[in-house]
Amino acid sequence: MSYPINTAQHLTIGEVDAIDLAKTYGTPLYVYDVTKIRQTMRDFKAIFEKEDVPYVVSYASKAFASKAIYQVAQQEGIHADIVSGGELYTALAAGFDPKHLSFNGNNKSWDELTMAVTEGVGTIIVDNFLELQLLSEITTQNGVKQDILLRISPGISAHTHEFISTGQQDSKFGFDLLTGQAKTAYDIARQNENFNLRGLHAHIGSQIFDVTGFEKNAALLAETAKSWGFQPEVINVGGGFGIRYTSEDEPLPESEYADAIIRTLKSKAAEYDWKMPEIWIEPGRSIVGPAGQTLYTIGSRKDIPDLRHYLAVDGGMGDNIRPALYQANYDAILANNPNASTQEVVRVAGKYCESGDVLVWQQALPKTKPGDILSVLATGAYGYAMASNYNRNPRPAVVFVENGKHQVVIARESYAHLIALDHDYMLKNGK
Ligand code: LLP
Repeated sequence: MSYPINTAQHLTIGEVDAIDLAKTYGTPLYVYDVTKIRQTMRDFKAIFEKEDVPYVVSYASKAFASKAIYQVAQQEGIHADIVSGGELYTALAAGFDPKHLSFNGNNKSWDELTMAVTEGVGTIIVDNFLELQLLSEITTQNGVKQDILLRISPGISAHTHEFISTGQQDSKFGFDLLTGQAKTAYDIARQNENFNLRGLHAHIGSQIFDVTGFEKNAALLAETAKSWGFQPEVINVGGGFGIRYTSEDEPLPESEYADAIIRTLKSKAAEYDWKMPEIWIEPGRSIVGPAGQTLYTIGSRKDIPDLRHYLAVDGGMGDNIRPALYQANYDAILANNPNASTQEVVRVAGKYCESGDVLVWQQALPKTKPGDILSVLATGAYGYAMASNYNRNPRPAVVFVENGKHQVVIARESYAHLIALDHDYMLKNGK
């Protein structure tokens, strides 16, 4: 693997020197190459356009939500999927057209649904019976006819980590298909004149590397609708397209996943004599994951003879919980000279007070010294999104880089931010 460098041998990101970025903004630092983000968004759209099928590419913004990314999505003409009032608030603050939002989630509150309905969120993806009831009341109160999809648990288990697999039958998401709950929900939704039921949704999981699950899912949604005598305008197959985290991962190109879905639904539409439904996909990770990396400053090390070399950096599980949570693997490179030959294998650990605070389990690196900059690659999805203030560490800044220019899109938290919501305790002995 060879990495882009400049004459100083430094790693470049979007044509900007990574060491300069670290100096300018400090570390840890999330850096996104916006050119890559735009390219992936365009690639997804191009596949559907080439096949001449109606479609919506909806960025699953849980992967990385910020005003800036909603703005990029909007510029590229794609929609966004939200899963909370907070994501909705952020999208609206970014000026994102609410009609182009869809709202997923298994326990949306009254307040969140009210906000969505009154702000004009285009599509609510209804997940359960309580939500049908709440949404019925809210749409009645506000005199709104709301476009909805029904989320089905398709009973398809994708080959991925159990915690990020959502499509299997034993799942908290969606109406169960096998026990007839989905059909009951369909009947309720169809009878409610405040709902415009446009179609069905099912998401089978995340970081998936083969097309079979997507084909099965698309076919199942079409077959389900057909069995109910329902001609859907929308079939939403969710997201989950796998990406390369390490050189051992071999994801398919986006086009293969999308082509398989398109092929399946074209043939179902022909078989059932349907007008071709809009195909919706909700990629999150594949849009922002590969485009992001995190820069860290190397600090202390611990060498345990015949056992392991630990290299510690100035971040860790607070800015990337994925290795600790999912045993996720990443590749890391020395940003000072990424193409230098490697000399040792280390475990990259963070600075948090926990043994599981690991960023990279095994990494071959050149000899490094304190102060060098390490870049952990492909951290753009579910990194900042799942960041925390554990150990009262401020969350890092996020910088967007494009064509040699760079800009902060989320500022680094300060110590003052950490206590901004704290109150002194005023009671003495409970009085
Ligand atoms: N649509 C729905 C309904 C979803 O539940 C998800 C992810 C997506 C789309 C986007 O999936 P993606 O294309 O990003 O794989 N925190 C975990 C991932 C959890 C994903 C949950 N749902 C991780 O860090 O791997």
